[in-house]
Parts: sequence; structure tokens; C-alpha cells
Amino acid sequence: MHSPAVAFLFALITAVVVNAHFQLQFPAPRGVFNMDNEPTFCDGYLDSVSNRTEFPLSGGFYSLNSEHTQWVVGVLISTLDNPQSFNNFSQVNSFFQDDGEGLFCFPLDFATSNVTSLGLKSGDNVTIQIVFDGGDGQLYQCADLTLSDNFNISSSVSCTNATGSTTTTSTSPSATSSTTTSSAMSNYLAVNSAIGILFAVVGLALA
Ligand SMILES: *[C@@H]1O[C@H](CO)[C@@H](O)[C@H](O)[C@H]1NC(C)=O
Ligand SMILES: *[C@@H]1O[C@H](CO)[C@@H](O)[C@H](O)[C@H]1NC(C)=O
Ligand SMILES: *[C@@H]1O[C@H](CO)[C@@H](O)[C@H](O)[C@H]1NC(C)=O
Ligand SMILES: *[C@@H]1O[C@H](CO)[C@@H](O)[C@H](O)[C@H]1NC(C)=O
Ligand SMILES: *[C@@H]1O[C@H](CO)[C@@H](O)[C@H](O)[C@H]1NC(C)=O
Ligand SMILES: *[C@@H]1O[C@H](CO)[C@@H](O)[C@H](O)[C@H]1NC(C)=O
Repeated sequence: MHSPAVAFLFALITAVVVNAHFQLQFPAPRGVFNMDNEPTFCDGYLDSVSNRTEFPLSGGFYSLNSEHTQWVVGVLISTLDNPQSFNNFSQVNSFFQDDGEGLFCFPLDFATSNVTSLGLKSGDNVTIQIVFDGGDGQLYQCADLTLSDNFNISSSVSCTNATGSTTTTSTSPSATSSTTTSSAMSNYLAVNSAIGILFAVVGLALA
């Protein structure tokens, strides 16, 4: 099915594009972090696991380790027992940008999210897929959950934010730091449009 040209483009995208990653810390991902597979659905772990993490319907959070200085993150959810496709997921919240490498922790409150129409309730099994893009392509990790309306995440689960911008703390005046930020952002946009063009080419080749 795949022509050599398409295979070449995928190889090029993989080789050029992916050089840093993120690791989901909580809730636990399906399996041990697999760097090479992270650009693919659920980090290459295609099937849901039976030891699901109990997770609150409201007041929850997720945490991750970022290896990028500037990135965009968001959460998808599927209510299928064993979702096999991105088509089986809905977007929980709007994607947002954050800066910095290290540990970050964000609220994940299904009760006040954009997926209240799914009618989520206590006892439901769901899968969340974290989508992270540090400017060199989207990366994915999944966690399988059982929702509960009578459960709080243990206070022993770490939820902290690394101190933000890592590049301009030393002697740079603030003018330099805003230049750094905007050039990082244009790199981010440039890389993303390059990816867009590559994927458009691949899409045409597949069509
Ligand atoms: C499920 O079990 C596997 C194998 O023991 C383990 O690696 C993984 O961390 C567990 N997942 C959760 C969410 O507890
Ligand atoms: C949720 O998943 C667990 C583990 O796979 C399973 O034992 C349980 O029956 C499932 N619950 C529902 C409501 O499907
Ligand atoms: C899950 O995704 C597959 C592949 O796109 C699609 O055929 C199927 O209808 C989807 N199922 C649900 C319930 O969304
Ligand atoms: C719901 O989606 C809209 C549009 O994407 C966004 O502006 C809003 O912040 C989202 N609400 C929540 C709770 O995520
Ligand atoms: C969860 O925390 C809230 C607020 O501290 C508390 O009122 C509630 O009883 C806790 N629920 C459980 C199941 O521990
Ligand atoms: C981390 O920062 C984000 C906003 O960038 C905020 O929503 C979240 O609550 C913060 N987490 C903690 C643990 O302070």
C-alpha cells in the first residue's frame, strides 16, 4: 500500500522532526515510556490495560515531564473499552501553551470540561490520551482510568510546576528575553508549517 516515496517521507519526518519528548507521570501510562513510538497513537501501546487507575470525575490532575522549553499540551478522552483510533477520542479541554523543561501538573476536571455531553459517571472506564507538541511533531501517551465521584488523588502523588522559562535567567535583560521568546515561537511555527507541508504531501501521496 505504501509507496517507497511515502515510506521515505515518513522516515524523513521521523529523522528530522523528533528529537525531544515528554513523559506522562500521572495517571500512569499504559506501559514503560517508549521514546521511538511516542509520535504514534498511545506511544505504541494499542490496547487498554486491565489495571486501570482510579481517577476522580472532578478535581483531578495530570502531570508530565517536559523535555522541551516551549510546548502545547491537551487531553483527549475515549469512553470505549479499547479505543483503537484517534477517531474514537474527543477533546476534553482546549490545548494551551506552556514554557519550560521539567515536571508540570495541570487540572483535569471532567465535570467542568467540554465533554460533559459524554455523560461521564462514576464507574465508567475511559482512556485519556495526552497530546504534547514541543514544535517538532505531536507526541502521545495514554492512560486507562476508572472514574469515581467518591475518590481523591492521594496527596503522595506529586503535582508541581517547574519554574518556567529556562533560557533567560542569568544575565539577559528583559528585552533580550522577549526576543528569545518570540524567536522560539517563530521556530515553533516554522517547524509546524514544515510538518504541515510534509503531512500534506504524504496525504496527497496516500490519496
Ligand atoms: C499495570 O501493571 C503493569 C505491569 O505490572 C505496570 O507496569 C503498570 O505500571 C501498571 N499500571 C498501572 C496504571 O498501575
Ligand atoms: C472496567 O475495567 C475493568 C478492568 O478492565 C473491568 O474489570 C470492569 O468490569 C470494567 N467496568 C465496566 C463498567 O466496564
Ligand atoms: C472508532 O474508530 C473507528 C476507526 O475510525 C471507527 O470505525 C469506529 O466507528 C469508531 N467507534 C466509535 C464508537 O467511535
Ligand atoms: C471548551 O472549548 C472551548 C473552545 O475550544 C474553549 O475555549 C474552552 O476553554 C473549553 N472549556 C474547557 C472547560 O476546557
Ligand atoms: C475528598 O476531598 C474533599 C475535600 O477535602 C473531602 O470533602 C472529601 O470527603 C474527600 N473524599 C474522599 C472520598 O476522601
Ligand atoms: C501549573 O501551571 C498551570 C498554568 O500554567 C496551572 O494551570 C496549574 O494549576 C499549575 N500547577 C500547579 C501544581 O501549580
